[in-house]
Amino acid sequence: MKQTFTDILKKEELSRDNIITLLNANSEDSKLLFAKSEEIRLKYVGNKVYLRGLIELSNICGKDCLYCGIRKSNKNICRYNLTDEEVLKSVKYAYENNYASLVIQSGELENKAFAERINNLLVKIKKLTKGKLHITLSCGEQSEDTYLKWNKNGANRYLLRIESSTKELYNKIHPNNKKHSFEKRIEALNALRKTDYQTGTGIMIGLPFQTIGNLADDLLFMRKVDIDMVGMGPYLEQKDTPLYDFRNTLKPIEERFFLTLKMIAVLRILMKEINIAATTALEAIENKGREKAVKAGANVIMPNITPAIYRENYMIYENKPLPSSSEILVPEKNLNKIGYKIGWGEFGDSAHFCKRFKKK
Ligand code: 5AD
Repeated sequence: MKQTFTDILKKEELSRDNIITLLNANSEDSKLLFAKSEEIRLKYVGNKVYLRGLIELSNICGKDCLYCGIRKSNKNICRYNLTDEEVLKSVKYAYENNYASLVIQSGELENKAFAERINNLLVKIKKLTKGKLHITLSCGEQSEDTYLKWNKNGANRYLLRIESSTKELYNKIHPNNKKHSFEKRIEALNALRKTDYQTGTGIMIGLPFQTIGNLADDLLFMRKVDIDMVGMGPYLEQKDTPLYDFRNTLKPIEERFFLTLKMIAVLRILMKEINIAATTALEAIENKGREKAVKAGANVIMPNITPAIYRENYMIYENKPLPSSSEILVPEKNLNKIGYKIGWGEFGDSAHFCKRFKKK
């Protein structure tokens, strides 16, 4: 007998086909899906939303990913590199405003000078904040040695998106050379997973050539790697990138948004205790995008605390929200209205990780 949508939601273990059915939910069925993911989220990780102050360190990048606005070959952007003083000013903001965590994200450079710079910054940040801020790094593929050094110097978490866990699709959205090897990326993720980092990954949703089956495989991949945290968002076309040529093949933007919410919900059902971020790309589509993602199962938001004068240059995709510095960066009132609380002053470490390391 054919399983109904409600039957599938009651199952303990979801098959790949079940996941595909959930991701294909229409607006009526999606209400059942979101109700289920919210129930699981409240039971396993509660109603808190943790903050990560996001610092976009530099848009100088050695890679040429075919979707990304800060790719090396893009000559239409102004490259910048924050000074240590600028970084520390943002860090101080996060510290004084009780964020408890920050993310340092950067274009990808795999060289000694960059590795050293991050080391020095970590030491300075730990000193300034007396170890009271947890730090996530998102600085791409690095050697195992570099990952370990950064970890030793105070980085607690590392986010390396796999972008797509399907090799053929990965190869379609990256140049075909050693610098952009799928295997190397998997190896880097595995290397991180072996260390003491809380390890995060993620993908883009609604890419050209991507199928719902690919997305189901991405969720199963996250579970197989036994990841601690995930940041995934809709793919947004960027006019200075080669993938822009395929813009006519894309799902409408609202559909990519809806699909992202369903991905978050299914992931919450599959991995009950991980941290899931409501990413900025959602906010680029709908102004209450992040709140909807929280309701679907996300429990982390990443307010951008990069000095305002640089924000417009970290244009990974178009229409990236650029809040003015006077605007409230944390949508606290809106979250309270839907029953959620900001975890001010709390690290909000991944419960999945804490169990794995018996750190509770
Ligand atoms: N649309 C959406 N997300 C993008 N990223 C890069 N380019 C785009 C785009 N055009 C994401 C990638 C990368 C992260 C920093 O931003 O997943 O890992």
